[in-house]
Amino acid sequence: MLAQTPEITEIILAAAEKARQETRDAPDHPRLSRLRWPQECTIGPGLEGAIACETKIGYVNGAKGWLVYRGYDIFELCAYSTFEEVSYLLLHGDLPSVDELAEYKRKLTRYQHLNQTLRLLVSFPVEEMNAMGALRMGTIFMRQEFTTMDREGGRPAVDDAIGADEDSIAMETKPFGEEHAIYEFKARRRSRRKSAAMDASGMEACYHLIAGVATITAAIARVRRGLLPIEPDPELSFAANLYYMIHGRRPTPFQERILDICLILHADHGMNASTFAALVVASTLSDFYLSIGSGIAALSGPLHGGANEQVINTLREIGSSAGVSNWMHMAMVKKKKISGFGHRVYKAYDPRARVLGPLAAYGIERSTPEIINLFDTARELEKQVLRSFGTEKKIFPNVDFYSGIVYSRLGISPALFTPLFAVSRVAGWTARVLEYLHHNRIFRPRAMYVGEFDRHYVPVDQR
Ligand code: ACO
Repeated sequence: MLAQTPEITEIILAAAEKARQETRDAPDHPRLSRLRWPQECTIGPGLEGAIACETKIGYVNGAKGWLVYRGYDIFELCAYSTFEEVSYLLLHGDLPSVDELAEYKRKLTRYQHLNQTLRLLVSFPVEEMNAMGALRMGTIFMRQEFTTMDREGGRPAVDDAIGADEDSIAMETKPFGEEHAIYEFKARRRSRRKSAAMDASGMEACYHLIAGVATITAAIARVRRGLLPIEPDPELSFAANLYYMIHGRRPTPFQERILDICLILHADHGMNASTFAALVVASTLSDFYLSIGSGIAALSGPLHGGANEQVINTLREIGSSAGVSNWMHMAMVKKKKISGFGHRVYKAYDPRARVLGPLAAYGIERSTPEIINLFDTARELEKQVLRSFGTEKKIFPNVDFYSGIVYSRLGISPALFTPLFAVSRVAGWTARVLEYLHHNRIFRPRAMYVGEFDRHYVPVDQR
C-alpha cells in the first residue's frame, strides 16, 4: 500500500480535466468488433498503418490524446492505482482481487532476488557498458537462471562432456587465435516444445521478467557508481523497492508515489517499435526472455525510449532558458528533430507528458540549481516548439520530454533513464507477447525489390 499523497492525486486529476477540455471536439473512439481477416488498410514505409493483430490490452487515440489500458483511462490508473495492480491488469485482463494482489506481490518480491544473474552480470565490465546493453545481457542471464531448459542443456552432464582440456577437444583444425581451452559439450536432447512451455514461455516467466528487469536495472545503476548491488526489501512496494535497490535508502512517500506513477505511465503503448520487436521474436516461438531482450534493444534507440536521455543532453546543450531562442533558430535551420517532441500516433498532447510535466514542476523550487535550470529551459523550449510547430504540425511534448527531469529529481542519472523505461514497459511487452501467442502467426511482411537483375559474377581480379 502506497502512503497517501493527495497533492499528487490532485495534480493528476487536474491534468485529466485539462485533457478532457482541450480535446472535447476531437473524434471519439470507434467501437470495433472482432476483425475479419484479411484486412484492407493503407500501409506506409516502416509498416505505418498496417494492422498486424487484434489486442485487448491497450488503446491509444492519437487525436484525443487518450491512453487506455484494458479499458481503464491512464489518468484514472495514475490517480488511484499502483504499478503492481497495473502490471497485473495488463497481464491478466482484470484488476486483481485482494488475494490475487497479495500473491502477485509475493511472487514479484521472490523473483526480485537474482543472485545468480547478478553474479554473472557483475563479472562483466558493466560500468563501462551501455546501460541498455547491460540490461539486455542481464535478461539473458535471467533466462539461464530460470529455465530448466537452459540449466540442464547448458551445463554439461558428466558423461556428456567431451572435455575441458585443450588437447582433448575434437576439432578438425587448430583453434584460430584461441590460446586456451574451449569448453565443449553435447547439450542433452529434450523436447524443445515441452521445455519452452514449462520454463520460458509462461506467466511465471512474465512475473520473473517484470520483477527481474527492475533488479538488474538497479544493480546496473549501482555498479556504474562503483557500488555493489543490494538485495530487495520484501517490506517495500515495487516502486519503493526499485528506488531502494538503486539508492540503498528508502524513498519518501512522494518519491515512491512519483516513481510508481512513472512506472504506470510507461507500462504499455500500442504497437510501438519495441513491442513490435518483442512480438516478432516471440512469433518464431522463441521465448519470453529472448523476446523481451529484443524489446530492450529496440527501446534503446534515440527515436524511441532513448529520447529521454537525449532530452537532457539537449537541455544541457541549450544551457538556460535564455538560450532557447538561438538554439531553436539553429534547430529549425538545420531541420533538426527535437528530442522529446512529436509522435507517430499522438497528434494532440501526449497524456503521459500531461502528467509528467506537472510532476516535474511539483516542488521544483526545492531542487538543485542544476535541475531548476533544466526545468526552466524545458518549459521555455516547450513554449517555443509549440509556438513554432504545435498547431501547424501537431508536434507536442511526448512521454520522454519531462520524464528525464522527474527521474533526475529522484536522483537517477541520465544513463539509467531508458533502462527505467524498460522496467515498466516489460509489463506491456510480456502481456502483448502472451496475448499474441494465443493466435500466433509468424511475422513475415515483404520488402519490394527495386534492385537490379541479370548481373553476372566477375572474378575479383577483373573488377
Ligand atoms: N522536432 C522537429 N520536427 C519534428 C519532430 C521533432 N521532434 N518530430 C516530427 N517533426 C516534423 C518532421 O520534421 C516532419 O516535418 P515535415 O513534414 O516538414 O518533413 C513532420 O514533423 C512529420 O515527422 P515524421 O518524422 O514523419 O514523424 P514520424 O511519425 O515518422 O516520427 C518520431 C515520430 C520518430 C517520434 C519523431 O517525432 C521524432 O523523431 N521525435 C524526436 C525523438 C523522440 O522524441 N522520440 C520519442 C518518441 S516517444 C517514444 O518512442 C517512447
